[in-house]
Amino acid sequence: MNQWKSHRKILFCVSGGIAAYKAPDILHGWIKAGCEVETILTRSAEEFVSPLALSTLSKRRVWRECDFLSAEHGWKIPHISLTDWADVFVVAPCTANLLRICAEGDSSTLAGAAMLANKKPLVLFPAMNSNMISNVATQEHIEAIRSRAHIVVDPDSGLLACGYEGKGRLPGNTVIYEYVWKALSPKNDLAGKRVLVTAGPTHEYIDPVRFISNPSSGKMGYAIARAAWYRGAAVTLVSGPCSLTPPVGVNVIDVCSAEQMRDACIENAADSDVIIKAAAVGDFCVEKAASQKIKRTVGEPLVLTLEQNSDIAAELGKIKRKGQILVGFAAETENCIENAKKKIISKNLDMIAVNDVLAEGAGFASDDNTVSIISKDGSITSVCGSKDEVADGLLDAVVQERA
Ligand code: PMT
Repeated sequence: MNQWKSHRKILFCVSGGIAAYKAPDILHGWIKAGCEVETILTRSAEEFVSPLALSTLSKRRVWRECDFLSAEHGWKIPHISLTDWADVFVVAPCTANLLRICAEGDSSTLAGAAMLANKKPLVLFPAMNSNMISNVATQEHIEAIRSRAHIVVDPDSGLLACGYEGKGRLPGNTVIYEYVWKALSPKNDLAGKRVLVTAGPTHEYIDPVRFISNPSSGKMGYAIARAAWYRGAAVTLVSGPCSLTPPVGVNVIDVCSAEQMRDACIENAADSDVIIKAAAVGDFCVEKAASQKIKRTVGEPLVLTLEQNSDIAAELGKIKRKGQILVGFAAETENCIENAKKKIISKNLDMIAVNDVLAEGAGFASDDNTVSIISKDGSITSVCGSKDEVADGLLDAVVQERA
């Protein structure tokens, strides 16, 4: 996990829709991540979720409508002190009524007054019946809120509590957490940029049931895609086969073989400002994959003829346009710096992150990595830590290169 995610202060407002029953679980996730959470419960939300459940989990009192303008709190006016305290203000679920209150700047309730007083990032998760969300009135409120640079996350589609099938479901907890992390991200220096990332291994099939591959888990590339999205980029991730959950907010293109990865990269390259090649691409594929399962013949070896796959990074290096940054990775087992420097030249890269894949706690499948980032001018920066931290360090180098 990134350092900047720990000990964050979240002001969590729960409004009165059926999805409010999920609020204790959402809150519990933040507490487990080491965050502090203050909760505002609207009057109608109290019909769906008990203040006691939320205060037990947050280990703090819950702010109710009866606390608004209450003499009990004197000069520590809740709607001001809570928003001053918070790093981020999250509303989940956000009803149509609370969207209106936010859009109109209506300060007649505790939640409304808090949204009006708030100067921190505001993230709203509308959840309601699909007719209500698609209604022009609701859409106009959403548009007005977005025009003020607040974040309104589109609801999911599916079976709704009212029995309708359609758009209106509160997104899953992971989606909620990821949008909140993005709002809290200390850097937004890739805003307006398009970043293409590759991740994972490739599978080169020998026959329908066997393939040649490598131990890449995709963790490094997925961490880069996630970090670039946090920092404001529009991200496309070309992913080889791996079992990771697709990063929130990222356009994922699933591929299997090196040739499929090549086609996806070439197709998306021209539009990209930054290309980062973290995938472990198979260098070889069998000349002709068998269409049926190859049978074992006792005593007979199986001889495969392998041919070279395209070198995707080198091809991208050839068509690199002015201003575009092409970053490679190098998986090395010896003479790491020397070998990586050769790859910068042979593939026309702007920089390369080299990892010694034999080192403990680095390289394939581990949660951590240690990389040396080598620029075209020969300067070297070392970054080590979780793959999330290494991803951020690499993006720092990319941003510096663009400056
Ligand atoms: O996925 P993880 O388990 O998190 O592991 C991360 C990692 C070890 C896979 C990652 O950190 C890494 O090192 N990725 C690059 C692996 C690799 O293929 O290195 P290479 O030195 O063989 O290739 C150099 C560069 O050329 C790489 O950017 C590679 O994507 C690219 N390449 C290689 C071969 C090929 N046919 N086409 C390519 O584009």
